[in-house]
Amino acid sequence: MSERPQTNRRFVLRSRPAGLPDDGNFEIETLAIVPPCGDELLIRVLVAALSPWQNQRLKDFKNYTNPFRIGELIDCDVLGQVIAGESGGFAPGVLVTGRLGWQEFAIARSEQLTAATAEFADTLWLTALSSPGLTAYCAMDLFGRPMPGQTLVVTSAAGAVGGYAVQLGKQAGMRVVGIAGGSEKCALVMERLGADICLDHRRQGLDERLGEACPDGVHLFFDTVGGGVADAVFHHLAKYATVLIVGRTVSNNSDRPDIDPVNMRQLWAREATIHCFSRYSYPERWSFARARMMQLCRDGRIRAVEQVVEGFERTPAALRDMLNGKYMGKVLVRYAHADDNLGGLR
Ligand SMILES: NC(=O)c1ccc[n+]([C@@H]2O[C@H](COP(=O)([O-])OP(=O)(O)OC[C@H]3O[C@@H](n4cnc5c(N)ncnc54)[C@H](OP(=O)(O)O)[C@@H]3O)[C@@H](O)[C@H]2O)c1
Repeated sequence: MSERPQTNRRFVLRSRPAGLPDDGNFEIETLAIVPPCGDELLIRVLVAALSPWQNQRLKDFKNYTNPFRIGELIDCDVLGQVIAGESGGFAPGVLVTGRLGWQEFAIARSEQLTAATAEFADTLWLTALSSPGLTAYCAMDLFGRPMPGQTLVVTSAAGAVGGYAVQLGKQAGMRVVGIAGGSEKCALVMERLGADICLDHRRQGLDERLGEACPDGVHLFFDTVGGGVADAVFHHLAKYATVLIVGRTVSNNSDRPDIDPVNMRQLWAREATIHCFSRYSYPERWSFARARMMQLCRDGRIRAVEQVVEGFERTPAALRDMLNGKYMGKVLVRYAHADDNLGGLR
């Protein structure tokens, strides 16, 4: 039987970054673990999921999310294993996901957790069946109205959310043009995710290449980055195009995230419709989207892309590297492995 851990290490915010965060913006706190009581569960965090919105919340500006306070635990979705307590059908050994943050252990209640059943690979619960997959599904389903034969452009197409938008667009019969940084990412977007073409935004001449890739114009633009790449796509919108704004990674990463210039000229000129999407506004769609994504995974019609970095201490560096475009797909940091001796309904 495994010994009950005594201390928890967790990353808290020490100072706010100007552009991209570095190790100095975070501090590791070591705290005694208070045993769970009542309906509480003690969870060992196995894998933490990184996302650009974490950098957004490290900064203090008006947004749809609140900034982290100095000294606050850095929040994120995690995969964990219950190691003590019993409540709401959860017992030691069971794998769960929840918003438990950058820490090695967490106390949580059952209503904060989702069971990660053995039907799917455990990391799928942080990718296709979690925020990246469900965000892409909900945004496309609610506002994208994908039409067969029309052209979809997806930015950060090798990224966590964008990779699912590419696949969902292809399944709807669209011509899909991905945009990603570097030839390796572009190859992945075409060969593994099925895009018709993928353009490397780090190469010169994106505007011209977009024109060649979208001869009928862009009917649906699924954008998670903003900035110059998005402005280049606006130049190629078809009349009455739909622009689906899901993320603003470029401005999140800048030292002035509160200012986010967009060239409105072509949006107006093409009479485009802009839908801005936040997952937090559609909680009632989340379980429907998860059920649909589960079925697509069962049918082998959705592929997850993820990269796993090893080690709790490397979390801040992994966040910075992810924001710099070093990784493909969802970036996960492994803190521990599941303890099979605990049993549980896996
Ligand atoms: N609205 C919502 O409910 C919701 C939910 C989830 C996520 N989001 C937002 O959606 C965005 C994407 O999230 P994600 O988790 O899928 O992250 P992600 O796209 O995997 O983010 C990392 C990628 O951003 C790209 N990038 C960084 N700087 C760039 C630049 N200057 N120009 C173009 N691309 C750049 C890089 O890809 P390349 O190497 O290909 O350039 C990098 O690999 C984030 O802003 C996130 O906050 C919103």
